[in-house]
Amino acid sequence: MKKTLQIIIAIFICLNIFGQKKINPEVQADSLIRLMTLDEKIGQLNQYTSDWEATGKITTENDKEIQIRQGKVGSMLNVIGTEKTRKLQEIAMQSRLHIPMIFGLDVIHGFRTTFPVPLAETASWDLASIEKSARIAATEAAAFGEHWTFAPMVDIARDPRWGRVMEGAGEDTYLGCLVAKARINGFQGKGLGNVDAVMACAKHFAAYGAAIGGRDYNSVDMSLRQLNETYLPPFKAAVEANVATFMNSFNDINGIPATANKYIQRDILKGQWNFKGFVVSDWGSIGEMIAHGYAKNSYDAAMKAIIAGSDMDMESRCYRDNLKQLVQDGKVDISIIDEAVKRILIKKIELRLFQDPYRFCNLEREKQQTNNAENRKFAREIGEKSIVLLKNDPQTSGTPILPLSSKNKTIALIGPFIKATIANHGFWSIAFPDDSARIITQYQGIKSQLDKSSTLLYSMGCNVNDNNKTGFEDAIKMAKAADVIILSLGEAPNMSGEAKSRSNLQLPGVQEELLKEIYKTEKPIVLLLNAGRPLIFNWAVDHVPSILYTWWLGTEAGNSIADVIFGKYNPAGKLPISFPRTEGQIPIYYNHFNTGRPAKDENDKNYVSAYIDLQNSPRFPFGYGLSYTDFNISNLKLSSDQLSINEGKLTATIDIKNTGNYDGEEVVQLYIRDLVGCVVRPVKELKGFQKIFLRKGESKSLSFTITPADLKFYNDQIKYINETGDYEIFIGNSSNTNLKGNFKLTL
Ligand code: NOJ
Repeated sequence: MKKTLQIIIAIFICLNIFGQKKINPEVQADSLIRLMTLDEKIGQLNQYTSDWEATGKITTENDKEIQIRQGKVGSMLNVIGTEKTRKLQEIAMQSRLHIPMIFGLDVIHGFRTTFPVPLAETASWDLASIEKSARIAATEAAAFGEHWTFAPMVDIARDPRWGRVMEGAGEDTYLGCLVAKARINGFQGKGLGNVDAVMACAKHFAAYGAAIGGRDYNSVDMSLRQLNETYLPPFKAAVEANVATFMNSFNDINGIPATANKYIQRDILKGQWNFKGFVVSDWGSIGEMIAHGYAKNSYDAAMKAIIAGSDMDMESRCYRDNLKQLVQDGKVDISIIDEAVKRILIKKIELRLFQDPYRFCNLEREKQQTNNAENRKFAREIGEKSIVLLKNDPQTSGTPILPLSSKNKTIALIGPFIKATIANHGFWSIAFPDDSARIITQYQGIKSQLDKSSTLLYSMGCNVNDNNKTGFEDAIKMAKAADVIILSLGEAPNMSGEAKSRSNLQLPGVQEELLKEIYKTEKPIVLLLNAGRPLIFNWAVDHVPSILYTWWLGTEAGNSIADVIFGKYNPAGKLPISFPRTEGQIPIYYNHFNTGRPAKDENDKNYVSAYIDLQNSPRFPFGYGLSYTDFNISNLKLSSDQLSINEGKLTATIDIKNTGNYDGEEVVQLYIRDLVGCVVRPVKELKGFQKIFLRKGESKSLSFTITPADLKFYNDQIKYINETGDYEIFIGNSSNTNLKGNFKLTL
């Protein structure tokens, strides 16, 4: 009788009260928790994948559907499409308390429409476009039944050997914070509860990008000051942007796996930052603590993870198999379980799944988003903005090769990426893995813009990654017959991404040999580089006159690239990560310390901090990128040479002129150096930027405001402080700028 009554109450609450917006989700969650058995509570903390392998080993069981019906599964990942999500949701709704499941997926850079990989998008330094890309991805994913994306990855990454650099915003903390916010705002749109908004997930908490040696999943060992100063701020920014969820990381931090790291999850995230959402483990990471040597068995692992604040178990089954016993043994207090359940239920309430568990399963919306022309148009635009022009030297004629006229030319398109389809997607385009037919190849994009008076020749030349040179002969023949060569080289999409660390960042296979052979024809070459990370291509930089870093641009790659080649769009991308000269320089980043023995210049090797066999500078610095036009930045003025620590504000002004032959955009960057500190401070730190458009010949003045908040840092007691003293300010169009002024931060 009591049981029946409970069920009636539950149904009443689920179907009626939860449908009304005004009731506080906390109260609703609490009332539901009161009705739940321990098994049902543990069920909410359990997440299973669907039946295909994504990024880990799949453990299948024949009774998954039965478990869902018993309320033992709170969420699933990798279930794609309204039909499939509806089918599983219907089963979840047969559970005793009718609690819907959340469906999650890695929607990393687009869903139906694939956008540039996140590192490439960051090269646009265009926060509004980055937000829009996430907005479209969310709208498409939500139309296919998804409630949750495991994005954005906000890990700072200073090591391009680490394959996951492609998934983040690069090496800089300031830029990383802004991009994190833009992506979260895009994914979550006008807020959870709207049918085009999905929950975002700030990952991987924390310091995953600092894996020793750049080897994925490896340990992280760093000072707490460094952790707080460099790696945690984008996560804090995510909380400020109201991110719904966090995912913890595979690595250990100073000996404690992130999954069981109380300091970062309980003290910082849920404590200091007051994060109200829930934390999902990474795939199997709770169970992996056994291999780490941090847990004896899955019982021990489950205990350590839940106590440390990991709310949901992705795929390890440690919670499912052990939490009940842990509670019965008095090892885990029920209040800890209740807290985790409550965090998850609140999100289900906010998504309004109790009101309508199938509100994301709408065939009509799915159809609308299946081939959305507007979304493709935007993919083309953000693709253009992501491309970085690394080099465009004048030819003997005095003008550079780019932009190329589409008239009266024989152009040879050579290389394994010219006709590639799916390679343009790069890693993490998992919703539609066989999407080749929708992708605009580089060949198609270039051909579609070519004037009738021109001829296109093609040769693949070689594969991406083998030793086969049989295609060289044909490629050389095409090159000889052409006026100009567009050579498209790079790394394969399965070479950057999860578990795709590389110790060698050169062009794989025989691609560089092909380049050298083509170069011998003495024809002008435009080199396109396709990759998810900074590659090392010194020979090319030393010999090839024009180089575009095209990353992996997604569905519209070919059109975006053609727009830039033919000058429909004047490139303005800037590198969000330093490009090393050799692997031996890694990690290399612009905001390093000066050391006690800084080298005077690149040739200074006299007992200074330098390599005897290499320059200290990167091949291309952070913030670098050219345009078809030229910009002159000058006349740096500060409104005062003093800034008061209390309510002060300083304005820095520069003049910028487009002195070249084309209209174009420039990213004007502001860096600051704190000259003397209670802890050593970086030689430069990005603190602001503006992307502006100037017509040919046009000038403008630009102002930046600096406040004491911009100058704060963590001292050795991990206190975030301002310190009075001398500062330098730099403004320019890359981190290499020398245009500078000085001011004092005063009391
Ligand atoms: C493992 C990856 O580290 C994580 O980023 C991803 O979200 C999960 N697998 C789910 O696919």
